[in-house]
Formats: sequence, C-alpha cells, structure tokens
Amino acid sequence: MTDIAALVARLPKAELHLHIEGSLEPELMFELARRNGVAIPYASVEEIRAAYDFSNLQDFLDIYYVGMNVLQTEQDFYDLTRAYLERAHADTVRHVEIFFDPQGHTDRGIAFETVMAGITRALDHAKAEWGMTHKLILCFLRHLSEEAAFETLEQAVPHLGRIDGVGLDSSEMGHPPSKFARVFAKAGELGLKRVAHAGEEGPPEYVYEALDILKIDRLDHGNRALEDASLVKRLADAQMTLTVCPLSNLRLCGIEKLEDHPLKRMLSQGLRATCNSDDPAYFGGYVNDNYVRTAEAIGLDAGEIIELARNSFRGSFLEPAEIDRRLAEIDAAIAG
Ligand code: HPA
Ligand code: ZN
Repeated sequence: MTDIAALVARLPKAELHLHIEGSLEPELMFELARRNGVAIPYASVEEIRAAYDFSNLQDFLDIYYVGMNVLQTEQDFYDLTRAYLERAHADTVRHVEIFFDPQGHTDRGIAFETVMAGITRALDHAKAEWGMTHKLILCFLRHLSEEAAFETLEQAVPHLGRIDGVGLDSSEMGHPPSKFARVFAKAGELGLKRVAHAGEEGPPEYVYEALDILKIDRLDHGNRALEDASLVKRLADAQMTLTVCPLSNLRLCGIEKLEDHPLKRMLSQGLRATCNSDDPAYFGGYVNDNYVRTAEAIGLDAGEIIELARNSFRGSFLEPAEIDRRLAEIDAAIAG
C-alpha cells in the first residue's frame, strides 16, 4: 500500500454524494434480475461492465434507469443499501448522506414505502452494528415536471421523520434549478435541507440559480463554478460545501484525464470541497479509490487529503457537537 493509500484508509470520513441506486454492482443486478424474474438487456456480468462506456451524463443515465428496474422488493432495497454500507465501512466511512430517486421506482409501480423501508432498515442496521450515522436525501428527477416533484414530496410527508433533505439530480442541461423553485420552497417550509446538482455539465448560471432560487445548503459537483471568479469568491466566502466526485467527472467526460481534475485548485481557492463517489458501481471506484487515485493523479499532499476528510464532516448535516466529535477522531487517527 502506498503512503497515500495508507493515510486515506486510516482517515475517518463522511460520504456526502452517493446515489444509492448507483451503487448497484453488476453482480447484484444479475442476482436480483434472476430472483425477481426481471429481464435485463445483458447476458452476463461482463457484458454489463462493457456497457459502462459513457461519453456524457445522459449516456450514463440511460443505463442507470434500466439497471434500477431489478429493484422490486423491500429486501432488494435492503440488499442494495447493505452492500454499499459494507463497502463504505471498509473504507473507514463513519457517516453517510445518501441520495435516493423515488420517482425511478414509483413510476414503475413500486410503492414509496417499499423503497423507504428497505433503505432505512439497512441504515439502522449499520448504525447499530458500527455506529455509522446517516442522513437520507430524496432527489427529484429534474427531467420530470415540477408537478411530479410535488407529488413525490407529498408521498414523503408521512416519512419526514426519516428524510433529512431534498436534492435535484438527473439530466442537468435544459433543466435549470429555477424549474423547481416552488417545490424547493415547500421543502424548506417542511424543515428539509436543500441540495442540488449544479455545474456538473450545466453553466455557472445554474449554480447561481441553485444558490439564489433554491436556497441550497450544499452544492453537488459545482465544477463549472470555476469558470466564474466572482462565483468562486462567493462560494468560498460562504463556505458552501461542494460535493466533488472525481471518478464520476472522469467517466462522464467532464475532464479528459484524472490529471486534469480541478480538486486541488478548488482547495487552493478556498472552496470547501469534499471527495465522493457519486455512482461507484458505474464509475469504477468507491470513496477511498476517489481519494487515492485523485491524490496520485494531481499531487494532493497529506494536508490536502486530511482537509478533504475534515470538510466531509464540516459539510455534513450532523449537529455541531457530532461534527466536533468526528473531527477529533480525525485528529486521533493522524496522531495514532
Ligand atoms: N448526475 C446527475 N444525476 C444523477 C447522477 C449524476 O452523477 N447519478 C444519478 N443521478
Ligand atoms: Zn450525483
């Protein structure tokens, strides 16, 4: 193990940008397809992996929505979530903030309750077993209408004791944050945190809309904010957390090679950047792989790697005392 890999493995961290449906590994996809008698357009696990050759976000999303068809029962959602949490635990992740896409399931006849029950049972299990804490973020699919998002929020109301925030994902171009102004305002009134994907493929203008119209508490991706110096200054001054996903950016061709990734530049410009896996089953690495491969490609030093781990807790929706406790665990891990 390299020095960088050893440091990353030792560091307690939070993962703040993870789509649970994007952690569906080909092996589990195959097993669930068989278990549920669902047809998938692949003959083997190797064929599934070979299909993961994307040239942009939409290429990936087309396959991601097909893959999730195998998820049918409460047990399926439990197994999916449990598999991710085991990977995260092995990566010394102590806190997770997980996205889920209920419309990807309810639109094919799966009850909202089924999705919630499976995911939360796995989260509760990880808390009891390892002390791993969690938050759950319901994402609206932005290629669908705001009216559909309102219907989903309505379905979530009986579950608000288990849902901590709302997010915005799926096809960014042509679906600006402003399209969801009213439903985000309503989510705010319900006491939910607000996050949104912006600046992954979309222009800096979408980041401004996420800040000014959606009133986000955290920015998912945000890479294209770097094109606008005054926006960078605003994000840095506000200490807005960016949930950056380097291997995702590479696989969706936001960058040509990992050596071009702007994570080091983000930190040096005072942005509160974090490092996350996004859809690890599709993008070729869980959180520690994202840290290690990026650090090696762009030359992050130990101080920068530790800062990313600290930022992951600072940017979380944990209570301040809990954040302090986790930061102290980082100090102990470095000292030890
Ligand atoms: N970007 C936008 N929407 C998504 C993603 C992503 O990386 N993963 C799942 N939904
Ligand atoms: Zn994402």
